[in-house]
Amino acid sequence: PRSNHPKSKEHKRLNTHKLVLQYIVPCMNSYGLCIVDNFLSNKIGERIFQEVIHLQQDGKLQDGELASPQFGKSKSIRGDKIAWVEGNERGCENIGFLLTKMDKLITYADGKLGKYKIRGRHKAMVACYPGNGTGYIKHVDNPNGDGRCVTCIYYLNKNWDAKENGGVLRIFPEGKSYVADIEPLFDRLLFFWSDRRNPHEVQPSYTKRYAITVWYFDSEERAEAKRKFRDLTAISQDRSTS
Ligand code: OGA
Ligand code: OGA
Ligand code: MN
Repeated sequence: PRSNHPKSKEHKRLNTHKLVLQYIVPCMNSYGLCIVDNFLSNKIGERIFQEVIHLQQDGKLQDGELASPQFGKSKSIRGDKIAWVEGNERGCENIGFLLTKMDKLITYADGKLGKYKIRGRHKAMVACYPGNGTGYIKHVDNPNGDGRCVTCIYYLNKNWDAKENGGVLRIFPEGKSYVADIEPLFDRLLFFWSDRRNPHEVQPSYTKRYAITVWYFDSEERAEAKRKFRDLTAISQDRSTS
């Protein structure tokens, strides 16, 4: 039947389902991180890369910021240049396509990733480490319950050789005796828990290193974080008006 043709939409959907249920979900629940190689294809990966290069040529990539800036220190903490992208901007159609593909994986996995109920995500962060030996020191993406539960990164670097180019993402899974060294290889997708279970660093990069990162929200933690933030805002407003 038509629906079993290897290229049919139905076939692709079933394959994606299988990838999620047989690989991504068990891998996340066992290891807290998961790698999918050759996620989209050479052709689409290349189109995404070209869109990122154009963002950079248009001057859209700015210094990465820290949640709590420490004066003058940020460049020694993280050396990347970033842009926030929705995916519906002109010239970002292929990035938009990537985001819908990521969202599909997460939708199929929902209810099976730990106790999370994933609802919504952050805009995509397009990042380039300029290749001057900067990286991002060891950190946790979400140390204090801001609502982000899964970090998802898509890498764009052809012919990457970590020995020469550096730029390895090293994850130090909490309470484990091993580290996970992840090379930022072209068309590679990575998931990991965003909380304190996964401290990680980007090692110094000696060649331009491109990636697109998305953070998914747990509905309950996100709602709680918004309540806390609203209460804090209310307190500081009380103070400033009294
Ligand atoms: C892996 C892995 C096994 C699993 O981490 O690469 O092999 O359960 N995971 O899917
Ligand atoms: C980050 C980060 C990892 C990477 O931006 O928070 O840890 O491999 N990036 O780019
Ligand atoms: Mn990080």
